[in-house]
Amino acid sequence: MRKKIIAGNWKMNMTPSQAVALCAELKDLVKNDDVDVVYCVPAIDIVPVVNALKGTNVKVGAENMYFEEKGAFTGEISAAMLKDAGVEYVIIGHSERRDYFKEDDALLNKKVKKAIEAGLTPILCCGETLEQREMGITMDWIRMQIKSDLAGVAAADVAKLVIAYEPIWAIGTGKTATTAQAEEVCGGIRACIAEIYDQATAEAVRIQYGGSVNAGNAAELFAEKDIDGGLVGGASLKADFGKIVCYNK
Ligand code: PGA
Repeated sequence: MRKKIIAGNWKMNMTPSQAVALCAELKDLVKNDDVDVVYCVPAIDIVPVVNALKGTNVKVGAENMYFEEKGAFTGEISAAMLKDAGVEYVIIGHSERRDYFKEDDALLNKKVKKAIEAGLTPILCCGETLEQREMGITMDWIRMQIKSDLAGVAAADVAKLVIAYEPIWAIGTGKTATTAQAEEVCGGIRACIAEIYDQATAEAVRIQYGGSVNAGNAAELFAEKDIDGGLVGGASLKADFGKIVCYNK
């Protein structure tokens, strides 16, 4: 049985003091032993959030990292820095980074490998544009992303990984994929993992759905057999996140 994992993706929101206040506000609302709860926060919020969450059930994730060990990469943050600060998860390949910051699959593959080497759990994002969906190439595109991003990654590491399926047209638009659409692609990702690796790895890897998840649609999405939780943007910044985390209560 895979444990559900529900992660907030704060994106470029919350100053350090706002971040600490939000942790306090959500503290009692996000308790659910059936679920791993993660806040993926801006780099500057990591240290105060790690401190604010001490003694709670919530883990901290980063929204990005660089693949190099250390050195002259002005403005970047390494996997070792994240790990040392108390981070356990890192989002890799969010569509906003692929689009606005031109991160490609070759770069993301390096980031995935470095994160694993440092002992971080990648939350690897994939997803199609509306145009690709309408062309009927959704699954081809996502299989290509998964295969490229995981090239050379061992089965044992993939089993511990989190993959987030986020249709780009559903992010921040209020337009959620239907439960059937989300389940179809999450199942397709699992089949792809079984094909590249094996059935046991495919059964172990946790696959989230992301894109306009809210308190009203979370329970239905998370009830699907291949949807192991969610990556939540907008709704993670308010009390509603508690309802999403406690979707089964
Ligand atoms: P959203 O964002 O929930 O605001 O649609 C999801 C994400 O980008 O991870």
